[in-house]
Amino acid sequence: MPTAFPDPRPPLHLRLQQLAQLAANSLYDARRFWRTSFTNGAQSRENLRARIAIGLHFLEYGMSLRDSAPGRGTDKATQLALDIDIYIARFGSDASAEIALRTLESWLAANESSSSDLSLARQVAAAHADAPVTGLKGGCEEVRREEIQSRAMMDFLSFAEARHSIRSYSPEPVPLSSIERAVRAAQQSPSSCNRQTCRAHVWTDPVARTRILSLQSGNRGFGGQLGGVAIITSDLAHWEKANERYQGWVDGGMFAMSFAYALHAEGLGAVMLNWSECRERDSALRKVAGLGDSELVITMIGFGSLPERLRVPISQRKPLSWALKLNEPLG
Ligand SMILES: Cc1cc2nc3c(=O)[nH]c(=O)nc-3n(C[C@H](O)[C@H](O)[C@H](O)COP(=O)(O)O)c2cc1C
Repeated sequence: MPTAFPDPRPPLHLRLQQLAQLAANSLYDARRFWRTSFTNGAQSRENLRARIAIGLHFLEYGMSLRDSAPGRGTDKATQLALDIDIYIARFGSDASAEIALRTLESWLAANESSSSDLSLARQVAAAHADAPVTGLKGGCEEVRREEIQSRAMMDFLSFAEARHSIRSYSPEPVPLSSIERAVRAAQQSPSSCNRQTCRAHVWTDPVARTRILSLQSGNRGFGGQLGGVAIITSDLAHWEKANERYQGWVDGGMFAMSFAYALHAEGLGAVMLNWSECRERDSALRKVAGLGDSELVITMIGFGSLPERLRVPISQRKPLSWALKLNEPLG
């Protein structure tokens, strides 16, 4: 019997190699963040869109509080007004401008009695009163508990327990409407300051699908059966400073999960396809998929139609007591 366990660490030269990899890949991520986020000021259209989204979010946030004092958020409203003005001057009026204008107008109406100086916000709202209206909304609305519960109550645990990572598909094509509904559902995921940084790049064409999947190592044995593949990205142009450097993965993870659940709700099968990759492979994927410099790849998701019968791993979950730590004593 050995008297001591062997040193569990890999040899020093391999550990140093890993350290160098870690540094090079962290630098690769940091450089993209530096180039595309608005750490350097809101220069691109997406940067400005993000700042507008943050600004209007704070107004909506304030207006949704039970006790919202008149004039709360005047500084934010003024900044938003300035950003709207710059945005429309540079890029014209679009969905982002329309939502921001509706929010600003709604905030102004709610704060009419405020003694703060609202002149600039009023001026901008009036200056763009003739901007195109397509029916997009902004501000706050009242909802009833019953409305929420009547649409939301379901046995979600059962729904979640019936989802499996699917690795066996039937050749039946996936309806476009199901893909669209799944992306719409994913868009409903929470996002930091409602910035909505995530996209699903979806390919159903077999040739394109195969090229994308050839760069991913976790679809062996079933990739050829998939009806579609999605690359989920977060647009780094929406993140501001170093403290947000990982926010893309957080928001992107939630978007990806909603998309997978939504496909499940459409009666389809789906499987997350890992994108924990180093810079060489990441660069190769961006080139093939034509991803913009500011798009951070979060994960791929394969999906398709379910066969009549299939095998799935049991993937037994750990005891609840491992995952739920309730009311533990504080330090
Ligand atoms: C980020 C992420 C990446 C994954 N990558 C792969 C993959 O490349 N190939 C695969 O077959 N499954 C992949 N999976 C699926 C996991 O293996 C699976 O979720 C886990 O074993 C639990 O099984 P279940 O999803 O059926 O409950 C991935 C899951 C996650 C969350």
